Amino acid sequence: MKIVVIGGTGLTGRKVINNLRGRSHEVVAAAPSTGVNTTTGEGLGYAISGAEIAINLENPSSFEEVAVKKFLETAAHNLFTAERAAAARHHAVLPVVGTHRLEQSACFRGKIIQEDLNQESGVPYTIVRPTRLFEFLGAIVQSRSEDEITRLSTAYFEPIASDDVAAPQPIFPSIPHEMAPSKSVVSTVCESPIS
Ligand SMILES: NC(=O)c1ccc[n+]([C@@H]2O[C@H](COP(=O)([O-])OP(=O)(O)OC[C@H]3O[C@@H](n4cnc5c(N)ncnc54)[C@H](OP(=O)(O)O)[C@@H]3O)[C@@H](O)[C@H]2O)c1
Repeated sequence: MKIVVIGGTGLTGRKVINNLRGRSHEVVAAAPSTGVNTTTGEGLGYAISGAEIAINLENPSSFEEVAVKKFLETAAHNLFTAERAAAARHHAVLPVVGTHRLEQSACFRGKIIQEDLNQESGVPYTIVRPTRLFEFLGAIVQSRSEDEITRLSTAYFEPIASDDVAAPQPIFPSIPHEMAPSKSVVSTVCESPIS
């Protein structure tokens, strides 16, 4: 079966591709660096033609409000047009869990738009909502650090490894079972102490 992974050169996309190739599927890594761009439409029709499934693992380069909205709307329009033309059977997308609980975030508002566009696309779809990736913790610390001090939320959260998200049978706990305060989760993966 031909499967196209949009964002197939990214952290999660590369792992999904390896797992699918291990199962003998014809897999295409679609990303600007491989000549496929969902916002300009470059290479998209060719990449999707003959594909039965498209998995959307792309990320915009900016999560600034206007930019992310434009990216997601344009990408969805181009992608679903190509999928309908190719008579693709299924589309999967990977937003983040809990977006409706944090609508102050432009990133999360973008993910809500992405889910809505999937539901309106006319292409059968699956929406998978993992928690934040473990690999994203460094970026969280960086964005919350100033003058060698890192200030973290007291909120509890439960990150997931991209290996588990990309696994052939993804491991998503149905109930939170290993939630911990951000500070203690980050402390376990950072060398310097977090205050
Ligand atoms: N990070 C998290 O904590 C988290 C949590 C839950 C869900 N997710 C979701 O998981 C998915 C993958 O996240 P990730 O962190 O693994 O991604 P990532 O490493 O940031 O990779 C992003 C991918 O998107 C591609 N891309 C960017 N612009 C594109 C365009 N115009 N057309 C086609 N492809 C484009 C990039 O291609 P190039 O390599 O060519 O730039 C790259 O392959 C995303 O949908 C994200 O929302 C992430």
